[in-house]
Amino acid sequence: MSNQFKRTLITSALPYANGPVHIGHLAGVYVPSDIYARYLRLKGEEVLFIGGSDEHGIPITIKARKEGVTPQDIVDRYHELIKKSFSEFGITFDIYSRTTSETHMKTASNFFHTLYDKGEFIEQESEQYYDEEAGQFLADRYITGTCPHCDNEKAYGDQCEQCGASLSPNDLINPKSTLSGSVPVKRSTKHWYLPLDKHEEWLRKWIIEDHKEWKTNVYGQCKSWLDMGLQPRAVSRDLNWGVPVPVEGAEGKVLYVWFDAPIGYISNTIELLPNDWEKWWKDKDSRIVHFIGKDNIVFHCIVFPAMLKAEGSYNLPDNVPANEFMNLEGDKISTSRNWAVWLHEYLEEFPGKQDVLRYALTANAPETKDNDFTWKDFQAHNNNELVAVLGNFVNRALVLTNKHFENRVPALGKLTDLDRDAIAEAEKVKAVVESNLNNFRFREAQKEAMNMARIGNKYLADAEPWKVVKTDIERTATILNIALQITANLSIVIEPFLPFSADKLRKFLQIDSLGWDRLGNFDLLTEGHALGTSELLFDKIEDEAVEKQVKKLHDTKVANEAEEKAGEKAAQKAKPIKKTIEFEDFEKLDIRVATVIECEKVPKTDKLLRFLLDDGLNKRTILSGIAAYYPNPEELVGQQVCFIANLAPRKMRGILSEGMILSAENADGTLALVKPGSVVSPGSQVV
Ligand code: MF3
Ligand code: ZN
Repeated sequence: MSNQFKRTLITSALPYANGPVHIGHLAGVYVPSDIYARYLRLKGEEVLFIGGSDEHGIPITIKARKEGVTPQDIVDRYHELIKKSFSEFGITFDIYSRTTSETHMKTASNFFHTLYDKGEFIEQESEQYYDEEAGQFLADRYITGTCPHCDNEKAYGDQCEQCGASLSPNDLINPKSTLSGSVPVKRSTKHWYLPLDKHEEWLRKWIIEDHKEWKTNVYGQCKSWLDMGLQPRAVSRDLNWGVPVPVEGAEGKVLYVWFDAPIGYISNTIELLPNDWEKWWKDKDSRIVHFIGKDNIVFHCIVFPAMLKAEGSYNLPDNVPANEFMNLEGDKISTSRNWAVWLHEYLEEFPGKQDVLRYALTANAPETKDNDFTWKDFQAHNNNELVAVLGNFVNRALVLTNKHFENRVPALGKLTDLDRDAIAEAEKVKAVVESNLNNFRFREAQKEAMNMARIGNKYLADAEPWKVVKTDIERTATILNIALQITANLSIVIEPFLPFSADKLRKFLQIDSLGWDRLGNFDLLTEGHALGTSELLFDKIEDEAVEKQVKKLHDTKVANEAEEKAGEKAAQKAKPIKKTIEFEDFEKLDIRVATVIECEKVPKTDKLLRFLLDDGLNKRTILSGIAAYYPNPEELVGQQVCFIANLAPRKMRGILSEGMILSAENADGTLALVKPGSVVSPGSQVV
């Protein structure tokens, strides 16, 4: 697979520095890329693993405006937080830099200029919305208006969040600038476009014919983009946050964030290896692998390759193993709705349990379709697999050796069939894990790696050293030697997935890191080798701990719903005023006050209350559809209401209703009876 290549450049999508990172990031991109990097390193291959923060783009400027700080403040804050989270989870980037770095600003700027000089762009004037009060052009996100599809009055210029339609600012009815609230005007502005249509032919061949081995979700998405036909894409924006467009007449314009961000992979390589970076990007025996989420596929498989091709001296990616999305307890993860498990918070609540999360996310990785993370699942993976299988096996091997052989590796004696079977099984693990990893099937690979522990567990259960020791110390020695060799094998095979636990295993065994090529061998520990002190690798996660997390999410949901309701209420305006009428029309209405004598629900109806009123002259019956808002109608007896006295009587449900009781309708449709401000005599006219 990677045979023809000498070295692998691994990149992982640069996360936007507009918020902390969560389990979705980890599951989709950073755990798989780290597993892959660790695996290749263990194999002794030349690897470079590039990460960094994406610090330009509208989401960052919006966040800054909301908080009343500068975009730089925002990215400084989150870059540090994100970087720390990744390092705490053992993501082994060779560099984690940022797109506001000097190196990047220069690299991206030069890249644009090279393409500009080569005539790879089209220049085009277009009409864009401009905010005259704020004195600037408006990004799509900065314009709101009414969605033409669902009448949502708060749709954005790029998308309606109510009905999900993707929009352009021109689609919005009554567009408004979110910067000043004013109505934007159209102004002409010049931009540079990458003519993707001109690249379509080679892209089609390169992907559709030459990269059939790409994951089906990636291949399929590329194919559908290509089948729709590619259009020129603007690579500049009217904005003051980003890499300035380095040509004359481009004042106030920056590179589009999706133009500069992938160049960040290059800049970060340059920053790390200023004199030696080029071979990673340009040598024919170097290979590039981009780890990303599914929303990034078009940029990494079509746009960035077109940029690289237009530049002319770079390699194209060899593979782009994009993942689908990880949901959380049934709902889409959302930063703005706080529907996420934030990595920094997880570590506060589950200190030292990085591997548990890495494991649970990989076991359930969204490799071919969206998947769901649940806390119950997380607990089950820990308790039933990490504790019961891996931890249990290792612990038994180590404790028994300590107890019966003074904590030294005992001698291997004559082998039985049982031993040979276990060894044969363990020898098979390497090839299976490898082929899965080579094909980016991390979930299956981890399952097969855990098989090493299953083999060990089964072996101990069958060989029963705790019984044998009472009669045959030599046989016990052989069993434990084999169990310890399996433990040493585990320290290799789990390293890509569970690096913290692999580290612990090596400490327990007092060995240095072993290469991948040693996997499957049974001479990893020599007889007499002194072991270190050990402890439990994993401990059980109790119900309370996960219930607490579920409750936290539940509280978030309740808070979100309350907020939405409040938002809806605020958005509900009073109904427009009806057509003007003459005074005589009003005079026709005889509105009066009455005192309630009886009030009860009309049997077999949900809505109707039957009122018996004293109208000052007579008793009269009126039915009113407000039962839902007065669950205890008897409490209305003695109170006063207003009613229309001269409305023609109507029969409802076999009862004659003589008039209409007035109630006020709230914006949300709920009703409240209209009453005089103080008690008046029954029959008083409302004038
Ligand atoms: N910031 C983007 C996102 O989170 C990813 C950028 S990847 C890069 O979706 F290639 F542009 F760096
Ligand atoms: Zn809509």
